[in-house]
Amino acid sequence: MKLIEAKDYQDMSRKAADIIIDQVKKKPNSVLGLATGGTMIGTYAALVDDYKQNGTSYQQVKTVNLDEYIGLAPEHPNSYHYYMSDHLFNHIDIPKSQTYLPNGLAKDIEAECQRYENLLEQIGGIDLQLLGIGQNGHIGFNEPGTSFESTTHVVELALSTRQANSRFFNRFEEVPTHAITMGIATIMKSKKILLLASGKKKAHIISQLFAGKVTTEIPASILNTHPNVIVIADQEALSLLSPEKRKVYT
Ligand code: GLP
Repeated sequence: MKLIEAKDYQDMSRKAADIIIDQVKKKPNSVLGLATGGTMIGTYAALVDDYKQNGTSYQQVKTVNLDEYIGLAPEHPNSYHYYMSDHLFNHIDIPKSQTYLPNGLAKDIEAECQRYENLLEQIGGIDLQLLGIGQNGHIGFNEPGTSFESTTHVVELALSTRQANSRFFNRFEEVPTHAITMGIATIMKSKKILLLASGKKKAHIISQLFAGKVTTEIPASILNTHPNVIVIADQEALSLLSPEKRKVYT
């Protein structure tokens, strides 16, 4: 893993957007793996700004999202379909037909998981996967204890994850209990991974990530074994990481 230190949320977002823009410029038909959550909003805003100012084109890009809540329709304001349209797809030139997310309303959820895995293979795998990190170390919605061999699957969300995400809903009870997520093996197949972390709430998990111990109790720890991972974290998220550790990874 390589660490890029950012000053604050805005700086993290700008640095992440620069890496994504660079990827799209070098390979205009890139497959981008996208993530949701509060962490990514600034990055998508920076991509939209760049699109407006510099016209970076996404016409040949394909996107695949990590996860979606089960039971929320694409038009539901808390669905990840809605989030992606609202923060990114509606503001750049990507054809909607080239943007993929799991279908949280699928009747046969197992078949939907398989369809999503097949889709990823058909489009040639992910060139650059964007990741956030849960306070418990989850990536996508792969909660602690998930097998490193897992492919796209259904998960029951941890109570702490539902609590953390309830800030986007009117009431805690509205937060879905289940989601479809790419598995850890699916994520690890990505050619390059960009993990972002911002704020004090992420400081503990970021220090655990850089402790280097690979354990299913911290799903993100598997990234220590991937050959091409960049972590961009701001000073608050890095506040529990010693200067020595920072030096090792920068
Ligand atoms: C959510 C998403 C993850 C995201 C994480 C952190 O539950 N499924 O993909 O990375 O939790 O979210 P946030 O960026 O809001 O802290």
